[in-house]
Parts: sequence; C-alpha cells; structure tokens
Amino acid sequence: MSEPAVHTPRVFSGVQPSGALHLGNYLGALVKFVALQNRMECLYCVVDMHAITQPQDPRLLAAQTREIAAAYFAAGVDPEKAIVFAQSAVPEHAELAWIFNCVARLGWLDRMTQFKEKTGKNKERASVGLYTYPVLQAADILLYRATHVPVGEDQKQHLELTRDIAAKFNNDFAAPDFFPLPEALIEGPGARVMSLRDGRTKMSKSDPSDQSRINLLDDAETIAAKVRRARTDAEPLPESPEGLKDRPEADNLVGLYAALSGETPAQVLQRFAGKGFAVFKPELADLMVERLAPVSDRMRRLMADPAEIDRALARGAERARALAAPILAETKRRVGYLQT
Ligand code: TYM
Repeated sequence: MSEPAVHTPRVFSGVQPSGALHLGNYLGALVKFVALQNRMECLYCVVDMHAITQPQDPRLLAAQTREIAAAYFAAGVDPEKAIVFAQSAVPEHAELAWIFNCVARLGWLDRMTQFKEKTGKNKERASVGLYTYPVLQAADILLYRATHVPVGEDQKQHLELTRDIAAKFNNDFAAPDFFPLPEALIEGPGARVMSLRDGRTKMSKSDPSDQSRINLLDDAETIAAKVRRARTDAEPLPESPEGLKDRPEADNLVGLYAALSGETPAQVLQRFAGKGFAVFKPELADLMVERLAPVSDRMRRLMADPAEIDRALARGAERARALAAPILAETKRRVGYLQT
C-alpha cells in the first residue's frame, strides 16, 4: 500500500468505561458523534484498555464497557453507519501503541497535564500505563488514519501529542504523508462542562461528589435536585455573555442551557436577563430532563439485552480490524520488522 497524498476524511473517538457517563461526556462527545456519522466514516470505540490504566474492578469492567456502548446507541449512534467496538477486541491498537512508544519522547509525555492532574503527588505509585496513556490514544486514532477526532476540550493536549507522533513517524520512516495529522473537533458550547459544585473545575467521572455532575442515568428528581443545589452567585443574569466574565458558575449554567437548547449563550441571556437563579434553575432542570430522559430510557432498554450489545460490538470489531490490518502491516514494514 502506498501513502495516500490526501487522506480520506475519517472520524475516530473513544470513551473510557471507567464510571458513570455524565452530561460533559454527552455534550462534549456523544452529541458530536451522532452529528458526524451522516457526513463521514466514523469509528467509535469503548476504550477499555485505557480504563485499566487506573484500578478497575474486573467483575464490573465488561458491564461498564457494554454500558458505554449502550450510551452511544441511545444517544443516536447507528451501528449500521458508524463502527462501534471495544478497544481490547482489536489487538492492533496495542501493537501500534508499542511502535509509538518508541517514537514518542519522554519529554513530550512529561508535559502531559492530565497525567499530573490524575496522579498529583502520587506519581511514583501510578501505573506505567497511565503515563503512556496518550501514546495508546495516538495509536487508536492513527491505526485507522483518522483525520478528525470529536472530543471535549480536556483532550486537546492529547491530540497535539498525536499530531507530534504522526509527524515524527512520517519523518523518521521517510513516509511524508503516511499518517495524517488529525484535527481535534472541539468547538461547540458543550466542549467544557464544569462541575456543579465549582465552576473552575471540569465535570468529571472521578469527582468524589456525585452532586458535582449530572449522570446520564440520573432520574428527573435527582437532576432537579442537583441543579437546585448547584453553586451560583447572588447576582441576576446579565444581558450579554460579557457579563458572565468572572462568574464561572453562572457561565457554566448558561452554557449548559445553550448547549441543550441549541441556542447561543447570547440568545439564552436575551430571555433570562435580569432574572435570578430561582427562575433560571427550574427551567434549566426541565430542559435537562427533557433532553436526557429519552436517552437514559433507551440506554436502560438496551442494557437489558447484553447479548445484543455484545453482538453489535463483535460486528464492529470485525469491521475495525479490516480497516486496521493493512495500515498496521504497512507500518510494520516501514519500521523494518521481518515480513512473515
Ligand atoms: P473520557 O472517557 O474521559 O471522556 C470521554 C469524552 O468526554 C469528554 N469530556 C468532556 N467534555 C466536556 N466537558 C467535560 N466536563 C468533559 N469530560 C469529559 C472528553 O473530552 C472525551 O471526548 N482519553 C479519552 C478517551 C480516548 C480517546 C481516544 C478519545 C482514548 N482514545 C482516541 C478520542 C480519540 C478520555 O479519557 O475520554
């Protein structure tokens, strides 16, 4: 196979099966997955190999993997259009990650802020896998020569590293366009959903407080209670987005309303300018329930038939392997492995 001069547009993204999915994952990733599947060839992976970089209960991991797949389908990903699969079912990811471990430089990984955030002062006790996590992510994407990667803003640095790895491989193995330099698709109002308890930290699966996030499977009452208790300031809502500066909690809630209603923050504020949170919060909670309830209902129905999810994932893995195999074979040839 020769290197394509211009790469066919192809989308790759993934979500870790490492805990309950939340509104940030939904708006930052799943909503974009659905929008893209009608425009480009898409691969959506449940990245269980990434999940085990931090301790997981082996009795739960398979069920969590199915749950993420169910969330993809419930959000509207169509397995006939997009290729949906579990990462560990395609061992080519690990093979390419090893090659990329030998391309990426220690200095590059030392700069990864997510590793620092996840380990804090406990770096010595972190798994080696967690350190090299972004290299596996680069392998996920480049194994399919994906050109576009829909993600939330927190993945920006990992995408930059992916581009660096692609460029260095292309350079070191004299194959100028062998791997594309993929583009992160981050823009949109849901790209950075913040914690409901602190507008300066992102909504996260690993936050010890469940009050900080809206889970995809929360029921209507729980959603309403969490929104009611969400931290805010005492000011009424401003007339325009400029007035949200230095008001991170207000900014986040207005951003959420905009992302869920499909409006811009300016349009949302036109309606709510001068109103307090006692008015705004119940409206936001209603909108959240209206948007999320159908997704969580579908998710629960799908999860009731695990065998069907497994069949869909197995079909997806077969399709993914068919795309990956020739790209990996050519990569290995370039590296100089013995051809068998
Ligand atoms: P993960 O599982 O942490 O998150 C899945 C997706 O959700 C987005 N996201 C958010 N978006 C907006 N606001 C938030 N608060 C928020 N929290 C999470 C993430 O940006 C992500 O898009 N490293 C990835 C998984 C991965 C991957 C890949 C992604 C592995 N290989 C290849 C793309 C391509 C991660 O940890 O996602």
